[in-house]
Amino acid sequence: MPLWPVYTGTNEPHDGITKLPPPPPWRAFDGGPVLDAPDAAADASAVSPDRMHRAETYQATQQTVQLVNAALYLRRPLLVTGPPGTGKSSLVYAVARELRLGPVLRWNITSRSTLHDGLYQYDPLSRLYAARQAAARQDHAAGTAAGTWAEGTRAEGTRGTADGSGIEHHLRLGPLGTALLPYARPRALLVDEIDKSDLDLPNDLLNVLEEGQYEIPELVRASRPGADDIAEVMTDGTGERAPVARGRVRCRAFPFVVLTSNGEREFPPAFLRRCVTLHLRQPDDRHLAEIVRAHLGEPDAYAQTLIDRFLSRAGVGDLATDQLLNAIYLARSADLDAESLDRLAEQLMPYLGRTAQPDVF
Ligand SMILES: Nc1ncnc2c1ncn2[C@@H]1O[C@H](COP(=O)(O)OP(=O)(O)OP(=O)(O)O)[C@@H](O)[C@H]1O
Ligand SMILES: [Mg+2]
Repeated sequence: MPLWPVYTGTNEPHDGITKLPPPPPWRAFDGGPVLDAPDAAADASAVSPDRMHRAETYQATQQTVQLVNAALYLRRPLLVTGPPGTGKSSLVYAVARELRLGPVLRWNITSRSTLHDGLYQYDPLSRLYAARQAAARQDHAAGTAAGTWAEGTRAEGTRGTADGSGIEHHLRLGPLGTALLPYARPRALLVDEIDKSDLDLPNDLLNVLEEGQYEIPELVRASRPGADDIAEVMTDGTGERAPVARGRVRCRAFPFVVLTSNGEREFPPAFLRRCVTLHLRQPDDRHLAEIVRAHLGEPDAYAQTLIDRFLSRAGVGDLATDQLLNAIYLARSADLDAESLDRLAEQLMPYLGRTAQPDVF
């Protein structure tokens, strides 16, 4: 029986992802050979305490739960927009933990990021160096000066496993390239701050996500016609190796992809049409109290005062949830009198951008 919602927002890990119904026919992918999800036991070591904490404490609203499930069902990326500190980057960690999707693959976008960076990196210089060393070792062993590095490299094609000069030893998949491997269970991918990218990246990215596949030309060129050339390439994050046949990668279970944006850019309609869009708002008082409870335990009277102040200030200008968390944490752990606490809390919650009215703290 199909399950709705698969992601519940309760932060209790489960295997509901196996009950996801088949994709719509226009989003079905058949890559292979199918790879197991990364070892759940390896997760803990691959996840930093900060990311683990974000995952365990995330408080999802009903709207968030519904749209995460829509993206999972439709096999579409989720574009998450909203003001600073509203939990855009944290959401994917909570979903990956609850649905046991393995360590989150993370791609932080800057103005210099290109699609290629997200797919894979190839280092021809280190390959050249390895090939030269291998040739020198061979010459030494044979006691002759015969053979050149170039001959050795050409003969090896993509492989060269024995001496480390094959392409696969010098090629590493990026976060996007890894997410599109044919895993049996969707991988979770965070493409953080896509609005910081140069103009072409959103469309380039959406094209690859639309196709669910890409090529690695260096491996395609090196593969022999008719041969089942399989390169064992390094993946992002855990550094495990995965087989890539004839330089082509096609996904099986479409990854759970979260693209975040602070709204610094308007995206073209063609981009928006291919995403499920979730706009996060500043949390209301009930939601804020839940967030504080999840991070720091039951709010005491002073924490409640800070929540109220935060809310009245948030109506005036941009504030981030973690500013409030910092203020409550300090109020609990620092031994300060009420007046000093008030002053410090005020300094910890300055407006981040636009203010509609003068400061009324
Ligand atoms: N719904 C939430 N539940 C629990 N914690 C939250 C929630 N929203 C925000 N936080 C906390 O607030 C902090 C900021 O969250 P996060 O970094 O995900 O926000 P963001 O929207 O990505 O911010 P930015 O726009 O600055 O990148 C984190 O410590 C996170 O744990
Ligand atoms: Mg963020």
